[in-house]
Amino acid sequence: MKPCLICERPLEPFLSFGKMPIANGFLCADQFSDEYFFELKVAFCEHCRMVQLAELVERERMFHENYAFFSSTSTRMAQHFQKFAAWVKQTYLSDEDPFVVELGSNDGIMLQNFAEANVRHLGIEPSANVAEAASKKGVRTISQFFDEGLASEILVTDGPADAILGANVMCHIPYIHSVFAGVKKLLKPRGVLVFEDPYLGDIVEKISYDQIYDEHAFYFSAESVSFLASLHELELIDVLPQHVHGGSMRYVLGHRGAYPISPAVDRLREKEATLGLALPETYAQLRRNIEASRDQLRQLLEEFRNAGQRVAGYAATSKSTTVTNYCGLTPQLVEFISDTTPIKQGKFSPGAHIPVRPYEEFKANYPDYGLLFGWNHAEEIMAKEQAFKAAGGKWIIYVPRVQVLV
Ligand code: SAH
Ligand code: TMP
Ligand code: ZN
Repeated sequence: MKPCLICERPLEPFLSFGKMPIANGFLCADQFSDEYFFELKVAFCEHCRMVQLAELVERERMFHENYAFFSSTSTRMAQHFQKFAAWVKQTYLSDEDPFVVELGSNDGIMLQNFAEANVRHLGIEPSANVAEAASKKGVRTISQFFDEGLASEILVTDGPADAILGANVMCHIPYIHSVFAGVKKLLKPRGVLVFEDPYLGDIVEKISYDQIYDEHAFYFSAESVSFLASLHELELIDVLPQHVHGGSMRYVLGHRGAYPISPAVDRLREKEATLGLALPETYAQLRRNIEASRDQLRQLLEEFRNAGQRVAGYAATSKSTTVTNYCGLTPQLVEFISDTTPIKQGKFSPGAHIPVRPYEEFKANYPDYGLLFGWNHAEEIMAKEQAFKAAGGKWIIYVPRVQVLV
């Protein structure tokens, strides 16, 4: 068994999803026969408190020139990143001519706000297609994987950074020690690392097991991030809960001793103690909750199929790949998945091979039920799908529990 990615102690998985495909590996029918699968297993390290994948997929299989996830498909996320950028500027960019680096800058959804304000910036985005979309928007981007070596190069070409940002990317990087070592080198003495990712506390509370897939090597908490920071002479100085992606946490780190620590950090650690995030029993219970959720969703969809009712998935999210494969959802149970991303349309969902169709098909021929794979975008989706409801359509959700919304 693979050792802990943070502290190298032996790990024992508490949960296995079985064989899983690449979450963003939408494919054509002629690719079915050589589709790649791996064992999706999750482990908790009692020593450093990190919840993590026990088996990893090579990064080049996930992040490449055909990466299917374009950040700017959600208008709410664009608003979120506008606010995120404004807050960083106001709180941490007091130096003259500040320099901002973003890891996993994708199509420029966050950095475009700095570019528009003429702030010196650099996006690091290994997936060439999304990086190109950012460059076209005027966002300065290099298509490489961030690590310690690249940080040293940036230090030479651009000088030290006032802020290094990352959204939904830090948890994607299993070689995180190299990233943190790079951050330590690249940050000015009063520079900050600000990153946000789906929060372990929300996953445990909401049973949002669909956050678990190949790209997400880590499921962070204040405890595990503090431990990791301390290994690199960095310090967790603030935490700010976020509603996006079904419950995320924004972590702010500075060089050790550079900033006072916000009381929010201790408050969150207390909450984590109450939630039992340091206890193996919590994860044993989480496993039972996940298994029950799977059985209920499967049963509900079988009932609808037997009653001749049509179910279509709404939004071919990366998270949906865990749900469709783990719950055994076939095209007999879910007729198609509607999605607005052109690169996914006309393809099939990874593993389960449910057809992905343009959103227009959902609108043209409403199913009886919409299975809300994009539950993290529920507010945005509900607001624009009033007509579906008015036509008698109903939503099925499975987080925080399996139910038909009435
Ligand atoms: N920040 C965006 C994109 C998140 S998806 C958002 O929140 O919407 C994760 C992104 O991280 C992908 O675009 C992927 O190509 C990128 N990525 C993966 N490994 C990386 C690394 N080592 N350095 C920088 N980016 C990385
Ligand atoms: P995410 O949950 O990983 O951010 O993935 C978003 C996916 O959902 C992306 O493929 C686009 C799709 N989507 C829709 O199809 N319709 C929508 O209204 C929204 C918000 C997203
Ligand atoms: Zn560990």
